[in-house]
Amino acid sequence: MSAVRPQARKRLLRVPNFRAAVRFERPRGTNDYGPEEMARRRSVEGILRQTAERFGFREVSTPTFEHLDLFTTKSGPGIVEELYAFRDKAARDLALRPEFTASIVRFYLSDLRNLPKPVKVYSVGNVFRYEEPQKGKYREFTQFNAEIIGAPSLQGDAEIIALAVECLRGVGVREVHTRIGHIGMLRSFLRIPPDDQAKVLHWLDKKDFGALRTELARLGLENLEEPLKEYVDLHGGPEVLDEGARVIKGVGTEGFDYLKALAKRLKAYSIENVMFDLGVVRGLDYYTGMVFEIDSPNLGTAKQVMGGGAYTLAELFGGDAVPQTGFAFGLDRIVLAAKAEDVALPMSRLDCYVIPIGDALQESGLEVLVKLRRGGIFADIDLLGRGPSKNLDYANSIGARFAVLVGEAETKKGVVAVKDLDSGDQKELTLTALIDLIPRSKQGR
Ligand code: HAM
Repeated sequence: MSAVRPQARKRLLRVPNFRAAVRFERPRGTNDYGPEEMARRRSVEGILRQTAERFGFREVSTPTFEHLDLFTTKSGPGIVEELYAFRDKAARDLALRPEFTASIVRFYLSDLRNLPKPVKVYSVGNVFRYEEPQKGKYREFTQFNAEIIGAPSLQGDAEIIALAVECLRGVGVREVHTRIGHIGMLRSFLRIPPDDQAKVLHWLDKKDFGALRTELARLGLENLEEPLKEYVDLHGGPEVLDEGARVIKGVGTEGFDYLKALAKRLKAYSIENVMFDLGVVRGLDYYTGMVFEIDSPNLGTAKQVMGGGAYTLAELFGGDAVPQTGFAFGLDRIVLAAKAEDVALPMSRLDCYVIPIGDALQESGLEVLVKLRRGGIFADIDLLGRGPSKNLDYANSIGARFAVLVGEAETKKGVVAVKDLDSGDQKELTLTALIDLIPRSKQGR
């Protein structure tokens, strides 16, 4: 029995008398994806997942929302301003995740640290940032995130960079620039309290030199403006590292020596000609060592397809010191980069579209359909009772590989007429022969 009182029930049932239908639009900065786009996205995601698993990473999943302070603790001013934060019915302050790293470290400290080291994990999912939307920059987007926790820095950093490079190779995106820097050197140069450091680094990351000047003036550090500008402009081969040491002299060369050793290790991974960029500052505040980014110059302003580096969140979250390194790809941006380069992505495709010729063959058509589906074939059938030529148009429009025509004469002979929709060739085949023709059917055997 419903607990709704009769009077209230009446109110619930009252249908508003709308004159005009209400048209809803999706919220700003979000996207709908149709079947073609979704197939492209799943194709890219599948390649990234497979590549990570080939590298020994295993998938983990964390909540879409977390306690607000997980993200305000050390993500930096950029991210905090962009949070989708809300209070739940029990007055808990929560936020939609703007990224994965903080959640993964929280999960590491509560559970994953009991796993044998190194912990190599990846995750895929939607993240949320209140940013000004433009092409490739959304308020809800998808990240492919990978982290290594507990491997010595050099080994972990090289492995994580190698994974990022291999992911893009796998997708087939070639026109990219990988740039590696070291935020630790910049932090050592800026010997100021962490909150002030975060602000200076924020403006350096945005390359907003006007705001940088104001910030430095506020801190009484005007003398740092020129060396900082010169430093973040340094990019190129290994010679850049010696230049960097010259510009920010007095802080030693430890980070630069580290990057040289990293380049040597990457060479052993067949990653040659590493490009250094001392202007890689990163928008998040937790990085402490090597930092790296990959751009696709074809994408205009939102060209960064990946960002990552070495960080120290575990200590800040009350855990012990352990090397942490990782990256996240913007999945939306890799898909755009692949499109810009006309990359032919492996797409899932309907194998067979079954067309019964006339009403009398509807049941035979369904029999064929069921056998194909049970044989592991992706198969569909006409549901509208259209004629053969309209059905062939439909099969072509959904990108089916073969049209399987079920006619009276063929049924008597125990065959079907199979039309190859790519070449236009047609031949008669038994169902067993048709199933054997399609590679997919062999996968599950
Ligand atoms: P991030 O650079 O903030 O790093 O984001 C990673 C990637 O997400 C970017 O390189 C970009 O491709 C994509 N992205 C960022 N904002 C948007 C947006 N508004 N719309 C579409 N795509 C976007 C992180 O999130 C770190 N957690 C990466 C990391 C993992 N570092 C260590 N481990």
